[in-house]
Amino acid sequence: LLSQIGPDAHMRMILRKHPSERTADDLEIIYEELLHIKALSHLSTTVKRELAGVLIFESHAKAGTVLFNQGEEGTSWYIILKGSVNVVICGKGVVCTLHEGDDFGKLALVNDAPRAASIVLREDNCHFLRVDKEDFNRILRDVEANTVRLKEHGQDVLVLEKSLSSSRTSMHGASSSSSSHYKYKVMSGTPEKILEHLLEMMRLDSQFTESGSALDDFLLTHCVFIPNSQLCPVLLTHYHAQALQGSEQEKLDYTLHNKRRVIRLVMQWAAIHGDHLQEEDVSMTFLETFLMAVSNDAKLIQALRDQLTELERLVKCNTEDAKVSQKRHKVLLRQFSMGDEKLQKRQPIKSKDEILFKVYCCDHTYTTIRVPVAASVREVIGAVADKLVSAEDLILVNLSSAGEKVVFKPNDVSVFSTLSTNGRLFVCRRDQLDSLTPLPEQEGPSTGSLATFEVMSSKDVAYHMTSFDWELFHCVHELELIYHTFGKQNVKKTTVNLDLFLRRFNEIQFWVVTEMCLCSQLNKRVQLLKKFIKVAAHCKEYRNMNAFFAIIMGLSNPAVSRLSQTWEKLPSKFKRFYSEFENLMDPSRNHRAYRLTFAKLEPPIIPFMPLLIKDMTFTHEGNKTFIDNLVNFEKMRMIANTLKIVRYCRSQTFGSDSPLANKNHPEVRTYVRQLHVIDNQRTLTQLSHGLEPRRS
Ligand code: CMP
Repeated sequence: LLSQIGPDAHMRMILRKHPSERTADDLEIIYEELLHIKALSHLSTTVKRELAGVLIFESHAKAGTVLFNQGEEGTSWYIILKGSVNVVICGKGVVCTLHEGDDFGKLALVNDAPRAASIVLREDNCHFLRVDKEDFNRILRDVEANTVRLKEHGQDVLVLEKSLSSSRTSMHGASSSSSSHYKYKVMSGTPEKILEHLLEMMRLDSQFTESGSALDDFLLTHCVFIPNSQLCPVLLTHYHAQALQGSEQEKLDYTLHNKRRVIRLVMQWAAIHGDHLQEEDVSMTFLETFLMAVSNDAKLIQALRDQLTELERLVKCNTEDAKVSQKRHKVLLRQFSMGDEKLQKRQPIKSKDEILFKVYCCDHTYTTIRVPVAASVREVIGAVADKLVSAEDLILVNLSSAGEKVVFKPNDVSVFSTLSTNGRLFVCRRDQLDSLTPLPEQEGPSTGSLATFEVMSSKDVAYHMTSFDWELFHCVHELELIYHTFGKQNVKKTTVNLDLFLRRFNEIQFWVVTEMCLCSQLNKRVQLLKKFIKVAAHCKEYRNMNAFFAIIMGLSNPAVSRLSQTWEKLPSKFKRFYSEFENLMDPSRNHRAYRLTFAKLEPPIIPFMPLLIKDMTFTHEGNKTFIDNLVNFEKMRMIANTLKIVRYCRSQTFGSDSPLANKNHPEVRTYVRQLHVIDNQRTLTQLSHGLEPRRS
């Protein structure tokens, strides 16, 4: 009998003693007991011995007792010795039940965050072991289990993992913090639970916290796992969530705090989406509904008024913009210009802007269609078919100057900007595909532009190239990189601004090769080669790494690199420059040379875009978006980090402070914006052989 109830009662008696009154024997007895507790099984003996000295016994007699409330500051960690508790969340109710051997309450302690849930006794007479915050931090904070899985209704909803965190780490890894310790960060979860967690972790008093950056990651990538049509209702529900326990005052405090956090989140969400919001009816309707809810609340709750003003301003801007652009879509010409670029600053192209585009038939006749930029292939074919006599079974083809054909799928969207440099859109019946031939104009120029180009200063050329690239880069929305990586069909969005910027890279490359291959005189060719190297050097000085790479890659194209007579005559100074530049392009060790150089640059920077795209694609293809039906948030963090590089590059704008900015070179400006190129590698190689036949 003694062996059944005796030790238990004895044990409780010891555990009720104040820790300072426990004898060595007491500690030994407690330690022995701890060896059998599931929640502690992963801890070392040293840690368990330390715990024996600090654990406190706590018991409660009545079911329904609240141990603590969601939103409160965390003061202790608990292990259930006997009985069970409910985990209750505002707006959701009971999400799960914990039993003997389970533990709870460490999230708030480890993350310095408010309680993520309330804990309510499910039966009379429950027993707990409690570790208070100071002891927990001293003994357990850094040795606690690495992974925490939160469940709701029997399913995992959030997986958190310990990781060393330090406050505010800059992009280049220079940490400014003095203290660092392990905190839980989100590894995976349901979209709703991740959002709930990030909201709970949000600090209203400061902008730059780790949780703030996790929230940024969420907002940048959410379109991949929870589109706005699903996110908006969730945000509204969160906004209206009611506290379930606590005194009236506690409930009010919680409600106010919660509302303020949701408003902050909505503002951040709107800032990230920017103009894109106006293209979505769900988002615009949501903003208006949300504003109404907040302004109703603000009548009663004084503390919401400052945020209401901010929100009103934001919603007003968006609705007015949306009205204007609904009335007046931009109409773009074939080259994605409005024809009056000199007068106006380039604006990002929107999905609903319309484009006038020529679509060719087998016999080289064409029809000009006018459709939204983001039109699907099906819609494009529809628009063409309207103008043709026979319209059955049409396909849409990207025909390159070399005669290569890519047949678009009916669901592809926004295809205009994805054509190759001299590519054209053709429409034909499937059985006519083989008979498609490129238009003569696709071949490109037959004479070089040396005469024009040679009188321009290399620095001016580099300046105007950079200024153009900057315009293109500036128009690229951060989210376009996500749409591009995850497939724009999946999100039904256009990536036209990004496409145009990427196309420019190819265009510059082909321009370099074309000019070199169309320059028949050897000494002129040497001059031209020098000039390109100089332009590249100036681009690098302007931190235009994209154009810099494009030029150097153009020069390393086989059609140019094989021109040995030309290279031989290049002064050694230039040879040195070139080989230094070539080293920067060395892809080994994951482009280490470039990455090191890049890390030293200060914004504004135009990054080598194809590499950023490659990084994102690698992340995307190498990591699943969902793991066991939970969003792989680790992947989203990696994707967001690449986007943050783009953000960093653009955190300063190029232009006004440059000594050259005010100088006007209309002819240089026009020249660099209208490059005529040959983009057929076979033609270029043939031209090259014509210039310098193979030595036997
Ligand atoms: P903490 O936030 O400190 O306080 C509430 C505790 O409830 C939390 O730590 C977790 O330990 C525990 N808990 C269990 N399941 C959940 C859940 N689904 N969501 C939030 N908290 C949970």
